[in-house]
Order: sequence, then C-alpha cells, then structure tokens
Amino acid sequence: MGIDISSTGIKLVELSKSRSGYELTAMATVPLPRDAIVENTIIDSTAVSNALIEAVKIAKPSTNNVALAVSGNAVIIKTIQVASATELELEAQIGYEADQHVPYDVEDVFLDFHIQGISADDPEHMDVILVACKREIVEDYQLVINEAGLTTKCIDCGVFALENAAELTDEHSVTEESEYIFSEEEAEVNALVNIGANMMNINVLINGRMAFVRDQFYGGQNLTEEIQKAHGISYHNAEQLKVDSFASVQADALEHFYAGLTSELVRSLDFYSASQPDFPVRKLFLSGGCALLPNITTELEQRLGIDTAILNPLLNVNISPKKFDVRKQRDLGTMMMVPVGLALRKFDK
Ligand SMILES: Nc1ncnc2c1ncn2[C@@H]1O[C@H](COP(=O)(O)OP(=O)(O)OP(=O)(O)O)[C@@H](O)[C@H]1O
Ligand SMILES: [Mg+2]
Repeated sequence: MGIDISSTGIKLVELSKSRSGYELTAMATVPLPRDAIVENTIIDSTAVSNALIEAVKIAKPSTNNVALAVSGNAVIIKTIQVASATELELEAQIGYEADQHVPYDVEDVFLDFHIQGISADDPEHMDVILVACKREIVEDYQLVINEAGLTTKCIDCGVFALENAAELTDEHSVTEESEYIFSEEEAEVNALVNIGANMMNINVLINGRMAFVRDQFYGGQNLTEEIQKAHGISYHNAEQLKVDSFASVQADALEHFYAGLTSELVRSLDFYSASQPDFPVRKLFLSGGCALLPNITTELEQRLGIDTAILNPLLNVNISPKKFDVRKQRDLGTMMMVPVGLALRKFDK
C-alpha cells in the first residue's frame, strides 16, 4: 500500500494487479490537525500515528507493508553527469559524487541514485538522478509508520510517485527510454503539477524522461488564507466556503491566489527552460486538491498560455461496487496521485 503523509491528512491506497489490470483493494483518507505537519516536518507524531491507525482501521488493507514518500526542502534531487560506470561501480563512488552536489554532510543524508542512460551530449558520460534526503526526516516518517504497527518497505520521492501515477492515465502517454533520441519538434514535453494544500510538486518530462523536478511551498492553503482575509472569517470557515460554497468566494481572493500561483509556476518553468531552452513545455497536467477548483484549467491556460488538463489515476483502476462507493472514490482520484504512485511500486519490473 502507498501512504501519503501530507499536511492536510493521511492518504492510503492499496492496489492489486490481475489480468484485467489494477484493482483498488483499500483506500482511506484521514484528516490531520493543521499544525501536525508543518513544511513537511512531523511536529505532532502522536497525531500522525493515530491518523495512520485510523486510516488502516477504515481501509482494512491486506498488507502491513508500506511505500511512503518524502518531499520538500529536505529532499535534494539532481541529475548529474558521471563517467560511464556499472551500477556497482557507481554504488561505491556515490558518496563522493554526492559530496560535490549535496549541500549537507553526506553522513547526515540517505543517498540513492538511478542511471538514466548515456548523456545526450557526451557518450563517455551518463546521466544519473541523484537523490539525498536528510536522515532525521526519513527516520521521523519511519517512526510514525512503526508506531502504527506498519512496516516501511520503500521510501520514494513525491515527484517520482507523481510520475508513476501519471503513467496510469490515458492523457499522459509515455515513450520508452530507448526512444530518448528525438527531434525538438516531435518531443513531448509535459509538466506534471500536483498542487496540494501547502505545496506543489512539479515534474517536467521530455518524452517520459524526467528533465526537471521541484517542490514549492504554495497551494490551496494560500487560497484559504486569501478568503479568510477577504471575508474576515476564520481559517476553518474559509476552508469550508472554498470547498462547499465556491460561488460565494470573493473574486479578489481568487485573483490574488491565481496571481501568486502563476508567478510560482512561471518561476519554475523559467528555471526549467534555462536548462532546456529547446524543449518548451507543451502541456500541463494538474492534480492534487487544487485541481478540484472550478475553472482552474481555464485560469492557468489563460495566464500561462499552456494547454492544461487534469489527471485522475483512478479512472483506469478497477473499483468494485461491492466494496466501494465507486463514484466517491473516483472523485477523490486527482488528490490520490502520490499514494497511487507509491502503491504501484510493488509492481516495479
Ligand atoms: N473541492 C475542492 N475545491 C477546492 N479546493 C479543494 C477541494 N477539495 C480540496 N481542496 C483543497 O485542496 C487542498 C488539499 O489537497 P491535497 O490533498 O492534494 O493536499 P495535501 O496533499 O494534503 O497537502 P500537501 O501535499 O501540500 O502537504 C486543500 O487546500 C483543500 O482546500
Ligand atoms: Mg500532498
């Protein structure tokens, strides 16, 4: 099962695989108090492990094994170039490589890497995705998982889980890695943008290959705060107004939110184009709770001038009406990208 420990709550998804495809076997969302997790750091571990226990009680998964994700500032993800080597050789020297690229003491982080392939501009070198995460963050997450009686089998990054979930959708087609040689006109350049409550994860893919990732602290919480100010109401009531009576939200509050969101997105897309000037982003694929905002695709298309669509990874997953309220679970789909992507790790080739 994949468990996304996010700022607004716990999201649990368990999948199984058969000849007819993936099937949802368990799912639950349990809210967390607002200050339990702040900027991806667990502040109130008891609240988080209690929410985990509650999620398991509701979902009744058939396994205790969990894939979870880390995101935000504690995670460094970089594509680096190293002299061609085998996986084993690189394993031995990854600490040295990390020392050049990671701003923390190598002793204080967990490291991992993935060899993407030969570098496009230099056949003697290969592109390697290097990931480092602060040990204390990983250990805090593992601790709450343990306290809930579960076992951590896999620790992923939010942006990678997003990419795995996107592969389940029809809209986001993926080219095999061997087809990495392409012309600029033919390249499919998609940005996956998951906008949650306190942050958004961005993953730009060129023909299915990760070209840029970034986590930024901006999300639905910013809109709730704008509503709170504009209407002079509590955060809780502003949240309720946004989700249940969106038509009553003052236009000013929305305008401020979208202006902020656009400038954050432009900042990331500018960073991306500085490194890949020949491959402009053609399409934006939205997910996360903010993708449920009425008209968000039109707003972003108009403000960014980029085609925008919403992804829902549960549309291609079988959901049994005997076990679930199918419509309700599917409606939550766009918010479940990260836990779905995590649950898929079990089926890695
Ligand atoms: N129907 C809706 N309309 C508008 N906004 C919504 C709706 N449903 C949820 N949201 C907003 O989406 C956000 C929650 O999204 P999501 O579940 O993706 O975030 P999260 O994963 O908990 O947060 P983060 O990853 O940032 O820590 C909240 O800000 C919530 O107000
Ligand atoms: Mg999230």
